[in-house]
Amino acid sequence: MPLLHWLTRDEDLRAADRVPYRLLDEVPDLSAGEGDEGLLVQGDNLEALKALLPFYAGRVKCIYIDPPYNTRSAFEHYDDSLEHAKWLAMIVPRLILLREFLSEDGSIWVQIDDDEGHYLKVVSDEVFGRKNFVCSIQWQKVFAKKNKALISDSHDSILVFAKDKAKWNRNVLPRTDKQKSAFKNLDGDARGPWQSVSYTVQSEDSDRRTAYRYEIPLPAGGTAKPPQGRHWNGLPDRTDALRDDNRLWFGPKGDRAPRLKVFLSEVQGGIVPDTWWSHQDAGNNQEAKKEMMAFSGGGEPFATPKPERLIQRILHIATTPGDLVLDSFLGSGTTAAVAHKMGRRWIGVEMGEHARTHCALRLQKVIEGEQGGISKDVEWGGRRRVPFLHPRPGGLRRGRPDRSGDPLCRPRSPCLVQRDPAAHDRRADRPSPGRAW
Ligand SMILES: C[S@@+](CC[C@H](N)C(=O)[O-])C[C@H]1O[C@@H](n2cnc3c(N)ncnc32)[C@H](O)[C@@H]1O
Repeated sequence: MPLLHWLTRDEDLRAADRVPYRLLDEVPDLSAGEGDEGLLVQGDNLEALKALLPFYAGRVKCIYIDPPYNTRSAFEHYDDSLEHAKWLAMIVPRLILLREFLSEDGSIWVQIDDDEGHYLKVVSDEVFGRKNFVCSIQWQKVFAKKNKALISDSHDSILVFAKDKAKWNRNVLPRTDKQKSAFKNLDGDARGPWQSVSYTVQSEDSDRRTAYRYEIPLPAGGTAKPPQGRHWNGLPDRTDALRDDNRLWFGPKGDRAPRLKVFLSEVQGGIVPDTWWSHQDAGNNQEAKKEMMAFSGGGEPFATPKPERLIQRILHIATTPGDLVLDSFLGSGTTAAVAHKMGRRWIGVEMGEHARTHCALRLQKVIEGEQGGISKDVEWGGRRRVPFLHPRPGGLRRGRPDRSGDPLCRPRSPCLVQRDPAAHDRRADRPSPGRAW
């Protein structure tokens, strides 16, 4: 398989192995609520992921990450300007670690734009396996054109990889009221509302398939033949059976070519997701900023939040209630907030101070029953506890802790783990009382 090369590639592929394990401590003042649904961690995600790996390896159903896109911007809360190879050096070890968290039927969704997106695809193929690539979703992040641009950029991509595509399955999306309203009951059929679809198909050799190009009598008199280049979607026997079962629609006056009736009650529970996500269906950047203003507490607004509806759609497709979700570039906390409201367990990692000023505050409001974003859609009433953790000074250690320290296994929930760089060099010889490596 062709591979991407950059100066520090070999070192970067081994970087995750060199990160030592650390212990995490709770910050009670920043913890909130009751329950065991979430874990909020402040720290560099390479260190935080390494600390969490012994507890959660192979247990995460869905990872969503929205890393810095390398747009050459300096945002208020994080720097988005790395030399190109340094960006690869940043992302590759994290992808390698993240893969370890996925369950065998899990998936990872990585949001990106065109600055690094194509390089990301190539390195992700290497980490997750080209055969496990599911698709690249195009999300319409803005709908207003920038007239000064050469070509106005209106989408982000979301690369989707399964841990093992043969074992991965997706949920269908619920039909919207608008989609349901396309089903009507024009003939009072006892089976309920239906919509009609073409009863012809196109095929290269349709003109030669004479058995499928017969005349169908119309209820109002006369006959219908399929148009040139198409043929009926069945032999005469099938057509007769459908007609007898009142499954062909000849128009209100019975004088049109037949169409097939598809009943709302008989189609599968929802819509198969596709790769085009319009802003009407999945929200947009402007919507995300409005949502974020509601919980930023008057502080500096976070520049690049994602809308709750976008994350809701991902979690709906990739998880069911109770599944574990991980976001290691948490930003303003959207994934955590949405997962919490949707009844998924979650782990969020963010290294900036906004882990406290935005994420912890947002989760506090979610627990109190905040009604922004997807709250009304999921009938969110608020509940559950969000503990806040930080790494224990001197808690740095090589070796693997056992699962007894798993915060999600204890009777409490979302935590913030804070990075203490000084602790990096103060390695304890033995675990503190009551703790295991
Ligand atoms: C594009 S933002 C994510 C926005 C998020 N999806 C939301 O809805 O708010 C990227 C975030 O990744 C964080 N980040 C960058 N490098 C990181 C690292 N090494 N460890 C943890 N967080 C990091 C940045 O501080 C920033 O908040």
